[in-house]
Amino acid sequence: MIRWWISALQLTELFVSSIVHLLYGFYIFSSAVAGDLSQVLNEYFFKPNVNVIEVKQEPPYVPTAKHTIDANTLPPIVLVHGIFGFGKGKLGGLSYFAGAEKKDERVLVPDLGSLTSIYDRARELFYYLKGGKVDYGEEHSKACGHSQFGRVYEQGHYPEWDEDHPIHFVGHSAGAQVVRVLQQMLADKAFKGYENTSENWVLSITSLSGAFNGTTRTYLDGMQPEDGRTMKPICLLQLCRIGVIIYDWLDIVWLKDYYNFGFDHFNMSWKKMGIRGLLDCLMGNTGPFASGDWILPDLTIQGSLQLNCHLQTFPNTYYFSYATKRTRKIMGITVPSSIFGIHPLLFIRVLQMTQWRQPPDVPPPYKGYRDKDWWDNDGALNTISMTHPRLPIEHPSCYVVNDSDCQPLQPGIWLVIFLKSLSGYCSHQQIMLRIVSIDFG
Ligand SMILES: *[C@@H]1O[C@H](CO)[C@@H](O)[C@H](O)[C@H]1NC(C)=O
Ligand SMILES: *[C@@H]1O[C@H](CO)[C@@H](O)[C@H](O)[C@H]1NC(C)=O
Ligand SMILES: *[C@@H]1O[C@H](CO)[C@@H](O)[C@H](O)[C@H]1NC(C)=O
Ligand SMILES: *[C@@H]1O[C@H](CO)[C@@H](O)[C@H](O)[C@H]1NC(C)=O
Repeated sequence: MIRWWISALQLTELFVSSIVHLLYGFYIFSSAVAGDLSQVLNEYFFKPNVNVIEVKQEPPYVPTAKHTIDANTLPPIVLVHGIFGFGKGKLGGLSYFAGAEKKDERVLVPDLGSLTSIYDRARELFYYLKGGKVDYGEEHSKACGHSQFGRVYEQGHYPEWDEDHPIHFVGHSAGAQVVRVLQQMLADKAFKGYENTSENWVLSITSLSGAFNGTTRTYLDGMQPEDGRTMKPICLLQLCRIGVIIYDWLDIVWLKDYYNFGFDHFNMSWKKMGIRGLLDCLMGNTGPFASGDWILPDLTIQGSLQLNCHLQTFPNTYYFSYATKRTRKIMGITVPSSIFGIHPLLFIRVLQMTQWRQPPDVPPPYKGYRDKDWWDNDGALNTISMTHPRLPIEHPSCYVVNDSDCQPLQPGIWLVIFLKSLSGYCSHQQIMLRIVSIDFG
């Protein structure tokens, strides 16, 4: 009887949570559409000869000359989005980084797919900058069951990129790991035809709430705490999985120009795999969710551990990390820091994460794991995970309380800055402007 009640309660929670998330997604999507429509209408009325269709379908991946950056100016800043993120040209006029990219010519915002794995994003990021056909690598593609080659960037956004023309990277959430993986690939000379890449192509990495150490959010949304790779049979992520497969299978061109999960290299369109392919995908036999080549497995504690094993902190690169927290301790209990001035959905997510307990019958993800270390969070990530990479070995770091603490700037060490209340993306923009103003000598 009690079991029945618990199941009923879980199902209700799932139902409510999916409705809320769906509504929220729809809200974002429709505000993007509304913003675009009003812009189009404006242009239509003030310049009657503008072709409406043409405005809407501006091809996002073909950079014009003004998108490329003059090699003689200061290093560009590349903003790398996180999960469910999008780059410039997607979702119409919406900006993931609160318009930070509009402030400066040298700011680039690549679109790396919103649910693809960290590895695939890092590969795409390289070709986005250098230009050419994305090569995911033979071994990886075979193992994960996708095409070896992907989208073609006719012209790189910064083809001059090399050791003498390095780049500042800013990664939000999972984007921070993407940049670290890319830097390691550069150090490992992992790009065919570019035998002389090195870690010094990266001048600085700034992490905004970076997902260095994984997040317990993944388990709350439906990843199995046992292995950190598979999903529970009934959960929010399963609904998300079915939605994504159908979205990609329907392959509606204008919709995908608008928002893309980034799984094009898996050939999931109806033209390529037919009804049988769709059923296969839904049954979990093929596709990204079957091979685990998507973002959620990379964001579990186990997944981060695996990634981090191969990633170094390099001596000549400057590392900054901004950590966020929406919780506080009252009499030893971790609670959301406020009910007011915070989106209700976010409040619930923060609260959920403060309640996270590793199931007693499941082995802990690493030796010395304690639930309470993971209770401080910002609704998406645990604060412990954001400061600097810790596992399997702790990387050098230094906590910055006062700006003067980090002068002169020192490379090869993570400078950690705590933000008490990072209210949305506006602060991200402020941080970006700060990076622009730092003098790297
Ligand atoms: C996907 O389709 C392309 C051709 O459209 C093909 O070259 C590629 O091998 C296919 N990949 C997979 C994994 O089936
Ligand atoms: C890297 O490649 C460039 C051009 O191909 C070449 O001029 C340069 O010497 C190479 N650098 C190293 C360290 O091999
Ligand atoms: C995360 O950080 C904690 C605290 O130092 C550390 O003990 C743990 O090993 C890390 N976990 C992972 C998965 O990186
Ligand atoms: C930061 O450091 C400067 C100089 O060391 C000092 O004058 C200032 O009061 C410090 N600010 C805070 C908030 O501690």
